[in-house]
Amino acid sequence: MSDNRFYITTPIYYVNDVPHIGHAYTTLACDVMARFMRLDGKDVRFLTGTDEHGQKVEQAAAAAGMEPRAFTDKVSQVFRDLIPAMGYSPDNFIRTTEPRHYASCQALWNKVLAAGDIYLGKYAGWYSVRDEAFYAESETEVGPDNKRRATASGAEVAWVEEPSYFFRLSAWQDRLLKFYEDNPRFIAPQSRRNEVISFVKGGLQDLSVSRTTFKWGVPVPNDPQHIMYVWFDALTNYITECGYPDTSAPNWKYWPADLHMVGKDIVRFHTVYWPAFLMSAGVAPPKRVFAHGWWTIEGQKMSKSLNNAIAPLALVKEFGLDQTRYFLLREVPFGNDGDFRRASMVQRMNADLANDYGNLCQRVLSIIAKNCAGSVPAKGPLTDADRALLDKAGGALAAVRDRVNDQAFHEALAAIWEVIGDANRYVDTQAPWTLAKTDPVRRDHVLWVLVEAIRRVTLLTQPFMPGSTARILDQLAVPADGRDFAAFDREMMSGTALPAPQGVFPRFVDPAAPAQTPRQVRKKA
Ligand code: MSP
Repeated sequence: MSDNRFYITTPIYYVNDVPHIGHAYTTLACDVMARFMRLDGKDVRFLTGTDEHGQKVEQAAAAAGMEPRAFTDKVSQVFRDLIPAMGYSPDNFIRTTEPRHYASCQALWNKVLAAGDIYLGKYAGWYSVRDEAFYAESETEVGPDNKRRATASGAEVAWVEEPSYFFRLSAWQDRLLKFYEDNPRFIAPQSRRNEVISFVKGGLQDLSVSRTTFKWGVPVPNDPQHIMYVWFDALTNYITECGYPDTSAPNWKYWPADLHMVGKDIVRFHTVYWPAFLMSAGVAPPKRVFAHGWWTIEGQKMSKSLNNAIAPLALVKEFGLDQTRYFLLREVPFGNDGDFRRASMVQRMNADLANDYGNLCQRVLSIIAKNCAGSVPAKGPLTDADRALLDKAGGALAAVRDRVNDQAFHEALAAIWEVIGDANRYVDTQAPWTLAKTDPVRRDHVLWVLVEAIRRVTLLTQPFMPGSTARILDQLAVPADGRDFAAFDREMMSGTALPAPQGVFPRFVDPAAPAQTPRQVRKKA
């Protein structure tokens, strides 16, 4: 059943530069979605890759003194190496320099041409190589240094005049507006949807879709003087993966994509140009495009000149992989811009992970190790308090599924942490260490309720923190085939032997933080 499929894509990354946390963030969000959907029983296809053509990449290759192909081989590999380092789980990594992708772009071009939506003309206007985008003069402004820049991105633009093929975008205005109206979930968040609708309502110009002044791209069929505009080529990667133009290919079943995850800067390409190209070619548009916000670093834009871009691996090395993954998705409402502050990272590691979650697991498992012969304690009759905690932990699946479906990762995590908070309060109120003296049978039962709650919570935290959660589930002796969401229908078996507990989320003592005086430490404690 097609309903059971879930096809999710990252943008394909330009290989002009090495990855920073902005890039790592987009793929991380997709990875969490893909892992969640797999655990929820879906047939998932998760695609990422690199965008290797265009002037920007050609110029970067020249600056490195390399041929474009050798240069893209090298930088593309850096993005590929990020996959194991960040714990990503894509099903494939596509490169726009692959022969199958040339064939797919040319097939799409021919379809759009046959539909009468491509014609030959001449482009005279502004172009930004950094954004790989054409801009109307009204979308640019001249700065105090006399340079003209795109208002939205701040990237310099240059005047370009050359023969060019055009896509008849102007003819698609009404059809696009109708498509947005019929598909209210197509663009998210709402603020981006409003932005796109008002842009399209403002009138659309035909779009230049080929270039003649450089060579690094996919040749236009029957007119190789022209190469395709890099965005026509890049967007097509999403259907290349599904086998386009062969709609009987095994992967065609994944199209239309359920979700293109993108940053806010590339919404227009995905929600205006892309559905228009596809509809023109008679191919269904994707179901949803979610645009997330941008990260700044300690209040500043990441930039080459400030040399402040954070390499994802530097974060992982210092704070840990799952800590980094957790922080990026918990700290900022997904869709908003966020500021990376080291102090917030340390705060979340210590408060949310070490104190709340790690400590819960550690104290419950160590009482069991010491008092219950190292095996899952005996379950007894459920009191209202027990039931309240277990129901909350069970109900979290529906709550988290709902939030993940809307890409509200921060809310999904907040819902999970509510259960963790309840579980910690339950430990305090039930006080198993006191029960040990007064009512050891009830003590065992309280511990059973707690390991069961931890199991449920940990099933849900898996997509966010795959490594640490696997270690927690190991410590609960949860079998490998009992870790998907179907396992919400199972429960911990009393008597199962448990391995010796080990802390999973260590406290982080920040060597970069100003030294605290003992007095300050006492006050906080
Ligand atoms: N090649 C195009 C995408 C083509 S998709 C058919 C491209 N590449 S990119 O490498 O420049 O950017 C890829 C993604 O990284 C975009 O979604 C962009 O929003 C994201 N980010 C780049 N810098 C970012 C931040 N500072 N913060 C968050 N995400 C950022 O665009």
